[in-house]
Amino acid sequence: MTQVLKPIKRVAISTGGGDAPGLNAVIRAAVLSGLKRGWEMYGIRDGFHGMLSPEQYPEGGIIRLTRDRVRGITHQGGTIIGTSNRNNPMRYPITLPDGRQEEVDRTDEIVRAFALHQLDALITVGGDGSLAIGNVLSQKGLRVIAVPKTIDNDLDKTDVTFGFDSAVAFAVDGIDRLHSTAASHGRVMVVEVMGRYAGWIALEAGIAGSADIILIPEIPYDITKVLEKVKEREAAGRFFTIVVVAEGAKPVGGNVSVVEKEAGRAERLGGVGEKVSAEIMELTGKETRLVVLGHLLRGGTPTAFDRLIALRFGAAAIRALAEGQSGVMIALDPPYVKYVPISEAIGKMKQVPLDSDILQTAKDMGISFCEPD
Ligand code: F6P
Repeated sequence: MTQVLKPIKRVAISTGGGDAPGLNAVIRAAVLSGLKRGWEMYGIRDGFHGMLSPEQYPEGGIIRLTRDRVRGITHQGGTIIGTSNRNNPMRYPITLPDGRQEEVDRTDEIVRAFALHQLDALITVGGDGSLAIGNVLSQKGLRVIAVPKTIDNDLDKTDVTFGFDSAVAFAVDGIDRLHSTAASHGRVMVVEVMGRYAGWIALEAGIAGSADIILIPEIPYDITKVLEKVKEREAAGRFFTIVVVAEGAKPVGGNVSVVEKEAGRAERLGGVGEKVSAEIMELTGKETRLVVLGHLLRGGTPTAFDRLIALRFGAAAIRALAEGQSGVMIALDPPYVKYVPISEAIGKMKQVPLDSDILQTAKDMGISFCEPD
């Protein structure tokens, strides 16, 4: 952690990666806390895109964030400054004259843009990708504070990320609604949820929503075990089954299901729900229906829990700058927020530990993860 002493006058906020409920709350708390210290607050449009291609924005790629602009946004989903999970400045995709695609590093341009706009500090709000960008920019001399965000809850060094609670709450509501229709028709209902390579959303929503089967990336599944569970339930007079499947779940010896891989961005997961429901239908002979919750998990109003974490993180980012911190990420270590070096938080995905009591709770209650024998 570096101590930087130059006085701060202008601070820019960037929100990057997939949006998550609570981003606007971070922006509001950071802007109000910064204004209170007499600082000018700015927002970079669409991750860092506004800085790299300002001509594409009628108002310019960097907008002034006033008290008026952040009024009434705590409860709003999305981000008022926009976000992007493409065009990562560390691996920016360009098309060569011969049509080939290449990735180039444009982080120096960001450092120059900060100097041009006389911006003294950056608050980068995002997942692993945005934190890695923040880390590089901090190594290149910018004063950077990172705020962790993702519905996936897969970031290390923080107890939880905001957006996760809202995603789980929405998924549980969806699963609750599926129970009655599944029971009425005696069907298998498969619910696919996001989460990338971590099973947090599937696990917590599955337990809270009383699923019978949960498939997560941390435990490769044996599809024939679904049949066992369905039969076991039928023997007990239960003719429907609810299966929650994480988008990153994979069969034993198999791979994750990928929709696409585009230059300059992470691979997009999806399709496992379709695969699993087709296999279940074939194995059990039961009518099976699939619901992919997908981006619904990222939309809508943040829960009170997420709002509060987001507001705390936004205010803490400004306090960290005022204290002369740089290169650190705000983390939740209940009941406190603390600072951890960004370099320690990146590159390590936080998956569900196999000895987690949450996992054990599910198993104790008879929920199947379809583990092979
Ligand atoms: O990281 C958040 C997340 O919603 C993941 O759960 C999901 O795999 C990914 O983003 C989807 O990204 P996109 O916005 O490109 O569809």
